[in-house]
Amino acid sequence: MGDLNYSLLLPRVEQMPRTIAARTRRVYDVLSSVYPLSTFFFHSKAHTCALRHSGIRDGMRVLEVATGSGEMFRRLVRSNPSGKTFGLDLSPKMAARTLQQARREFPGTQTHCGAVDVRDLPFRTRSFDAVMCCYLLELLAREDIVRTLDEIRRVLRPGGTFSLVVIGQNGPVFNRFYGVCGSLAPAFWGRQVEAGVPEMIREAGFQILTDQFVRQGFYPSRVLTAR
Ligand SMILES: C[S@@+](CC[C@H](N)C(=O)[O-])C[C@H]1O[C@@H](n2cnc3c(N)ncnc32)[C@H](O)[C@@H]1O
Repeated sequence: MGDLNYSLLLPRVEQMPRTIAARTRRVYDVLSSVYPLSTFFFHSKAHTCALRHSGIRDGMRVLEVATGSGEMFRRLVRSNPSGKTFGLDLSPKMAARTLQQARREFPGTQTHCGAVDVRDLPFRTRSFDAVMCCYLLELLAREDIVRTLDEIRRVLRPGGTFSLVVIGQNGPVFNRFYGVCGSLAPAFWGRQVEAGVPEMIREAGFQILTDQFVRQGFYPSRVLTAR
């Protein structure tokens, strides 16, 4: 085993030859009411870390892509009460839930969230000060990750910050567990992409500012900020 190249055992970005968006939309629609539990148990620590490094301040124009059930989105609105906070998710039920809860919790704030596919952002070039993206890239094929990163770069103003959270790939047991889950339900789990993400971000023209691994129980995440 001494000469074995462990990177060959990792799930690879190429393992998802195409994005299965229609199935992903259906699965996340069905799970929208229970999804907050998953965020609470597995994502909240990485969300805290991402927000801390994001540089988001009140008064900004902020976009979150793939809001899920809106836990990070509400944190963004709380940090930006007199700015404008936009969100989107492929699943109409996730987007509706996100918007409803944010407007209920923060009445009077300028918050918007709709059902949109991240691969074609309906926003003007250079229109945001910050973009947040948590646990999305796992669900996109490589070419769509590239396209999404290009879209995010397009809508960010020069000097704006891009915060990204992906599932960590640094635990061999967890990787095996994730590989099994991903092969059983690829539209929900996707596959891990973390090891290739820094290179893809740089290739999209970003400069990485912070890069941190976070663990919540057995669940690893990698939190990056870039400009
Ligand atoms: C793993 S969940 C993460 C949710 C949330 N960001 C979080 O941190 O808990 C992935 C989310 O990405 C959304 N999604 C998947 N593909 C998408 C796409 N092409 N465009 C927009 N959202 C997408 C799903 O509907 C789902 O809500």
